[in-house]
Amino acid sequence: MKKILITGAAGFIGSHVARLFVNKYPDYHIYNLDKLTYAGNLENLKDIEHKPNYTFIKGDIVDGNFMLELFKQHRFDAVIHLAAESHVDRSIDKPMEFIMTNIVGTVNLLNAAKAVWDGQYKGKRFYHVSTDEVYGSLGEEGYFYEDTAYDPHSPYSASKASSDHLVRAYHDTYGLPVIISNCSNNYGPNQFPEKLIPLFINNICNNKPLPVYGKGENVRDWLYVVDHAQAIDVIFHGGENGETFNIGGHNEWKNIDLIRVLIRVVDRKLGRAPGTSDKLITFVTDRAGHDLRYAIDSTKLQQKLGWKPSLQFEKGIELTVDWYLNNQEWLESVTSGNYQKYYEEMYGNR
Ligand code: NAD
Ligand code: TYD
Repeated sequence: MKKILITGAAGFIGSHVARLFVNKYPDYHIYNLDKLTYAGNLENLKDIEHKPNYTFIKGDIVDGNFMLELFKQHRFDAVIHLAAESHVDRSIDKPMEFIMTNIVGTVNLLNAAKAVWDGQYKGKRFYHVSTDEVYGSLGEEGYFYEDTAYDPHSPYSASKASSDHLVRAYHDTYGLPVIISNCSNNYGPNQFPEKLIPLFINNICNNKPLPVYGKGENVRDWLYVVDHAQAIDVIFHGGENGETFNIGGHNEWKNIDLIRVLIRVVDRKLGRAPGTSDKLITFVTDRAGHDLRYAIDSTKLQQKLGWKPSLQFEKGIELTVDWYLNNQEWLESVTSGNYQKYYEEMYGNR
């Protein structure tokens, strides 16, 4: 039985990856290693937690000794590394946790894999999950390609860029069998309501202001989270060591246009008259160093490995809004605790 360590699988994307692998590959044993920060929630995995090929381990990737002992104990065949601090605004506020988890944590994992695999790399794989934000910001035109030079601007994207470089360095220096993917903005069920789409769905439902940074002109390229998980599956099994793949759905939206779609869909589902929640739009101070535009070219992945996104954006938004409306308990549980404090600190002075 293949033993696969998925880090950060209690989080948004990781939970979808773990679900896909546990259900699709009964001959793999999936170990979910997660620290359960504010962003990690075992509720996300309720439907698979009793499966015989799934094990949860609570732990911190920043603890190098712990990670090495864990590797020695289980002798994993592969790692799919998603654990990270992932929110740009938090990285602007408190960068150090991003440096520790995203950079030091990644190196701890690389060191543990290198030590335990000890040059016996046949059948082994270290898959590093990264973001398109490492490429920086585009103007009105153009796309990010796999060979676009890195130009990160936020502490988050700089920490992810650093981790990508280190993963590549372990391939080039020690021959570690690594693979990297860089994906555009994800949306869908289980995303923590600090990111644009779930935050705004929640605020529209509760008649709270929608804090639009700057003029709302920034552009993001949105992909449904299940499509990202499927791309990871395809790359994990079909990519070659040392390769990089961009993942994205050619689905660019200006923030303000996306917000109007969200308002329309949520108002309709709540039985409100069209446009009821337009008044909630509130333009606030822009994010520092706010990247103007992200847009991914995923031709390599589509042509080489045959992946393509399965969902139209409108359908994905319907599914996402439905999920949040039907999972109010989940929302309440993740927004209890420190969430109110976070919200006041982040938006109180804007
Ligand atoms: P998330 O914040 O929802 O989840 C991160 C998970 O990592 C949480 O379960 C958290 O508890 C865990 N974690 C954090 N620090 C840890 C530590 N020190 N040790 C162990 N576990 C720890 O993040 P996400 O949005 O699911 O992103 C997952 C990965 O995908 C990240 O590496 C991110 O950079 C990348 N990514 C995200 C997006 C996106 O749009 N969300 C897009 C492209 C790439
Ligand atoms: P976000 O979901 O934080 O993802 P990222 O910064 O990684 O792209 O933000 C998506 C876009 O929405 C980004 O341009 C910033 C903007 N935004 C707002 O206008 N208001 C908000 O409250 C948030 C969280 C984001």
